[in-house]
Amino acid sequence: MKSKTVAVATLGCKVNQYEAAAIVSLFRSKGYSEVDFTEPAGVYVINTCTVTHLSDRKSRQLIRRAVRTNPEAVIAVTGCYAQTSPGELMSLPEVDLVVGTSDRDKIVDLVEASSKAEKINAVADIEKACFYEELPAPAGQGRVRAYLKIQEGCRNFCSYCIIPYARGPLRSRQPEAVLNEAESLLAAGFKEIVLTGIQTGAYGVDLPAKTSLAAIVEKLLRISGLSRLRLSSIEPNDLSPELIELILHSKIFCPHLHIPLQSGSDRVLKLMRRRYTTEGYAKILNNLREKMPNLAVTTDIMAGFPGETEEDFEQALGFIKDMAFSGMHVFKYSPRRGTPAAGFPQQVDARVKEQRSRRLIALGEQLTENYASKFAGLTLPVLAEQPFSGRGGCWEGLTPNYLRVVFACLENLSGEIIDIKIEKTGIQYQTGIII
Ligand code: 5AD
Ligand code: SF4
Repeated sequence: MKSKTVAVATLGCKVNQYEAAAIVSLFRSKGYSEVDFTEPAGVYVINTCTVTHLSDRKSRQLIRRAVRTNPEAVIAVTGCYAQTSPGELMSLPEVDLVVGTSDRDKIVDLVEASSKAEKINAVADIEKACFYEELPAPAGQGRVRAYLKIQEGCRNFCSYCIIPYARGPLRSRQPEAVLNEAESLLAAGFKEIVLTGIQTGAYGVDLPAKTSLAAIVEKLLRISGLSRLRLSSIEPNDLSPELIELILHSKIFCPHLHIPLQSGSDRVLKLMRRRYTTEGYAKILNNLREKMPNLAVTTDIMAGFPGETEEDFEQALGFIKDMAFSGMHVFKYSPRRGTPAAGFPQQVDARVKEQRSRRLIALGEQLTENYASKFAGLTLPVLAEQPFSGRGGCWEGLTPNYLRVVFACLENLSGEIIDIKIEKTGIQYQTGIII
């Protein structure tokens, strides 16, 4: 008999975190109990990411770690790396089962059917997927902020990106299912819902009923008891006038948007097959900021895309500075097999990528500091999340505009929104006092 304990590790984006938590729910409903990934378990699930070669490497490291902790355990690998490279994973002696980004609802049965003698490759052709796959409500998402997945797939095919191949066509979740899950999250005590998806802005385009991201957001905003709604990410071209109207006029919709820019050079944007120019991007941001001067805009930037010259990079730095982002995720370009950019000439040298990435990170930190400093001395509503691990007697939480705030407090304030006067601002977090 295999031990009925499961440990799940996840890498990558918020969609993956959501799905890992749903996988935990699936195992729980079949009588398994969850243990920490560092402990011996009967089953290990590694929910992988493949956005860069580093994600692949980390996925393989987790597989090896699981086997070291319990050599007898069943090792199930799922997620984006599993979807795009099932052969590579099946050839690893440690792996017993590979499930891609679909059929996750069958993972417990597959785990129980697999054995060291009979490995299972359950990866299906994702291009044939037609419907959004419902998974049970995720378990163990904390108690204050919850992710809610509304959509699957991407059809943008940016030249560098493997995600469309890992996630397949656009499939939106039925509006009723989205609303029901939001209601249950609120009933469970959650205060903030973060909408996630692979291309969130494309929500609804594949549904027969005329719906859109703006339409579902409007419905969600009407649910009573919801304190905060946030979007995890949106492509610049998907910011519709209807959605912008909602953001401008709702007190519940957080004034924070993550809008991936990828590069601040028009030449590079074109090579990346991003369908906007720096001028277009700036126009969107300026329009938003005219009406919401304190809006927090965070972004993703890539360093060293093939063909990015020193001049392109300097230009990008200037543009990024002008956009005054409040936070930036920097990725060193990583060629992904099967994507057009992997075959582009003029791949950038690893050392140059590293240098550019460092300069971008430094600029990002400077911009974060600039943005945060605007709030010194002001009082902001903070949603208390958890005790602050860095210092005893303190709690931490987020403001609507995504500033992390640490404040002294001995009571349990989990899930409460408290007015905090910001005293000191910084890159990682701000400190303040309860008003
Ligand atoms: N190399 C590096 N970063 C990448 N991203 C996507 N594909 C690649 C790649 N091949 C980054 C983009 C995207 C984020 C999720 O990952 O910046 O927005
Ligand atoms: Fe990749 Fe572009 Fe899709 Fe984002 S929108 S996941 S960058 S292809």
